[in-house]
This record gives sequence, C-alpha cells and structure tokens, in this order.
Amino acid sequence: MLQRLNHVAIAVPDLSAAIAIYENTLGAKVTAPQALPEHGVTVAFVELANTKIEFLEPLGTDSAIAGFLQKNPAGGIHHICYEVDDILQARDKLQQQGARILGDGTPKIGAHGKPVLFLHPKDFQGSLIELEQV
Ligand code: CO
Repeated sequence: MLQRLNHVAIAVPDLSAAIAIYENTLGAKVTAPQALPEHGVTVAFVELANTKIEFLEPLGTDSAIAGFLQKNPAGGIHHICYEVDDILQARDKLQQQGARILGDGTPKIGAHGKPVLFLHPKDFQGSLIELEQV
C-alpha cells in the first residue's frame, strides 16, 4: 500500500521565522507560503533532494493545528505523509482492518492538489499519518 515518503509536516507558530531559519541558517530552498483556508493552515515546503518538509501555520480562528500548538508552543512534528497509488482502495482496505480514518472518510484535496486522507494516530503508534494519492 505505502509507496514513497512524500513529506514530514512541522507545525510552527511563526511561518516566516521558520522559513528564515531553514533558508538562512540551514541553507535550504523553501517555497512561497500558500494559504489553504479550507484546511485552516498556511503552508510552505522545504524542498530536499529526496523529500519535503511541510510547515503548517494556523490560519483562521478554528484551525485544526491550533490545539497542537497550544500543547507544543515552540512547534513540533505534526504528521508524516506517505504516497499511495489508489487512495480509495487504501481507505477501504484500512477500514476493513479496523483502522480509523479522520473525518467522514472522503479524501480532501491537499496542498499539492492531490487527494489526501488522515489516519487516526491511536491506530498508528501515536503518529498522525497522511496518505496522498500521487
Ligand atoms: Co501534509
């Protein structure tokens, strides 16, 4: 089911500070910030040779990552995104095995314009997993 690692996401309280540290201190290439109001976040991607790091900054009043940042005020690793070939097939197989999908189980369009789903952290070693169909 799982293919490549697509990205690791880090929730950040201050996106421009995160971009500045990765660009200036770590010498990385970072994309321009992109607001995703339907996901309640502004994102930017650190582009590495073999994968990406996704920065997530809360956007709007009831952002899904606001609670995470309350518990982790300095920021922290929020989720891991794996690629799958067929997201609906992956969802059905996971549900048959008792794994919980967040929300109503309908894939949403993610930051790359591709369908994504999130899996319940309690079913996967305490880590939030995003699946993205590539
Ligand atoms: Co993500």
